[in-house]
Amino acid sequence: MHVITVCMGSSCFSRGNAHNAECIKRYIVETGQEVALSGCLCRNECKNGPNIIVDEKVISHVSPEILPDLLDQVLENR
Ligand code: FES
Repeated sequence: MHVITVCMGSSCFSRGNAHNAECIKRYIVETGQEVALSGCLCRNECKNGPNIIVDEKVISHVSPEILPDLLDQVLENR
């Protein structure tokens, strides 16, 4: 199963991860993907945030606009 971790550190949270987390939840429901979603504390990558981690790979500068395509790519094309 894929694992998506959303950084909930204060920098990523205030730069958009609160909204990104909602978008990821919606994506999971709409696509029926088998994904474990969780949160984490700051990963010391704040300057590149907001960050999410998909299967241990840090993905930076995440926004709701790019999330659907990004998740299609990382979850399905492997
Ligand atoms: S708050 Fe997310 S990397 Fe620091």
